[in-house]
Amino acid sequence: MSKEIPEFVRVPASTVRDEMVTYSVRYGAKNFIETGTHYGDTCCHMAATKYFENIFSVELSKTCCDFLEKDFPRLTKSIGVDVSKVRFWKGDSANLLPEMISLVDDRCIFWLDAHISGGVTVCAEDYETPIMTELNIISSHSIKDHVIIIDDIKGCFDSHPAWPDIDEVIAAIKSINPDYLITIKYGILFAEVPNSAPKPLHNGIPNGPITVLEHKK
Ligand SMILES: C[S@@+](CC[C@H](N)C(=O)[O-])C[C@H]1O[C@@H](n2cnc3c(N)ncnc32)[C@H](O)[C@@H]1O
Repeated sequence: MSKEIPEFVRVPASTVRDEMVTYSVRYGAKNFIETGTHYGDTCCHMAATKYFENIFSVELSKTCCDFLEKDFPRLTKSIGVDVSKVRFWKGDSANLLPEMISLVDDRCIFWLDAHISGGVTVCAEDYETPIMTELNIISSHSIKDHVIIIDDIKGCFDSHPAWPDIDEVIAAIKSINPDYLITIKYGILFAEVPNSAPKPLHNGIPNGPITVLEHKK
């Protein structure tokens, strides 16, 4: 039986990208790893922040890969974005994510967005979304508190045979670390381990009215 599909409030792509940067800063994650590059818009956005040390992305569509090789460097240069930290892989994320993740030994923010979505986009022959394989690859990494963000989670609510059930996705994330906090908003799943944030953002400022009153005494 299919689950009730929540009503997702949609926000512009730029809002989601900004929110991903906020997560990166909160968790000190300086590696951005994306599956499903499309034309590299999110990579360009992340490069423009100058925050990340590595921005890795993998794309399966030949048309997109040709664009990324020939046009992406010229176009990003024309708008003044330094993309020297961006590196693209051509192929299926299910095969290439292990290599990408092996190059980092620090916390990452994963933007899992590899699926067919019209136009020049494609999907692998045997599956529409590699999401469960990707989560499995992330689970074998030594770091157990990466920030994991999954786009288009709606597919996991409507019993579509090509997509895993949402319960299966949540179980896979919790099996990496039971402390994952999972939030779904804008049709996107955000998974974070709150107690892994490197330092409180309040930087020593008392964090509530009672503490403030105590300080006044
Ligand atoms: C929704 S688009 C990605 C948008 C992009 N992440 C962004 O934020 O601008 C999904 C992309 O995933 C690609 N894709 C589909 N299956 C894939 C796979 N198994 N491995 C890598 N890329 C894949 C599609 O060709 C498509 O370009």
